[in-house]
Amino acid sequence: MPCNRSVFITRAMPPNVGARASADFDVSLNEEDTLWPIDEVIRRADGYRALLVCSSDKLTPDAIARLPESIEIVSTFSVGYEHINVEAASERKMLVTNTPDVLTDATADITMLCLLGAARRATEGLLMLREGRWNSWRTTLLLGTHVTGKRIGILGMGRIGQAVAARARGFGMRVHYHNRTRLSPELEQGATYHADAESMLPHCDFLSLNAPSTPATEGFLNAARIRKLPRGAVVVNTARGNLVDDDALIAALENGHVAAAGLDVFAGEPNLNPAYQHMENVFALPHIGSATDETRDDMGYTCLDNIAAHFSGAVPPHALNGDWLGQD
Ligand code: DGY
Repeated sequence: MPCNRSVFITRAMPPNVGARASADFDVSLNEEDTLWPIDEVIRRADGYRALLVCSSDKLTPDAIARLPESIEIVSTFSVGYEHINVEAASERKMLVTNTPDVLTDATADITMLCLLGAARRATEGLLMLREGRWNSWRTTLLLGTHVTGKRIGILGMGRIGQAVAARARGFGMRVHYHNRTRLSPELEQGATYHADAESMLPHCDFLSLNAPSTPATEGFLNAARIRKLPRGAVVVNTARGNLVDDDALIAALENGHVAAAGLDVFAGEPNLNPAYQHMENVFALPHIGSATDETRDDMGYTCLDNIAAHFSGAVPPHALNGDWLGQD
């Protein structure tokens, strides 16, 4: 029977995180990494005080209403939390926490990998080698899009967007951005601010999506906005798949209006639109933006820190709700 430091973890954790969780808490680990349906999570978590989830666990208002009475805190192993209805959790006075900061660099790195992979036709090059079709160096072999001196437009200039901007500057790119609020000049570092995302699009030789999934960003990159990009632009998405209208992007990749796309995230993951798997001008990865040993350990430790803070009566450092705390 779980004791008062009890944590139910829905997915297998990196070994260091699992070891710390076992040392610090009375923990249920899903060592086989079975992807339990949410009803099974609800059933198994009964009696535990903390629930550690991943973005594969969809906590809709209905699921939250049915979570066991014993659950006081839901700690997600992710910075994005669109899979959790925080409002419904707040109604139950259930804390929700996430893992900001620790995955900023890894995600910005994968953004540059996607950007360069798309611009430099990496998918075609890899396939040519793997399939034994490379027979000679040629002056015109796999000519791609030059990066240095080009303009990158960043949608969403939070921690990750700013880290992408720093890397893009290192590649000699000129940075444009749209964010709900303009950054201070120290953070902006000469980047051009567009109060309106629409006005940024014609300046994007490269467009990088780094905004969270919210009702305001869902479907952002639709056919009308794609038409505003310069012909031959490169689109990069390492944020969330549902920021993109897949049919519109695929049509633009087919007709050449968008030269290439570098994508780490997809609507309906892991069941991405099959066109992306077959298009040679798409450089695609299976949502591994934060997948380094160091980052995944730090994400897990951050989850455990949030839970430990709650168990000790403190406000978790990365609480997404909790207005009611201190009011009882
Ligand atoms: C995050 O932390 O949001 C990553 O994309 C994993 O879901």
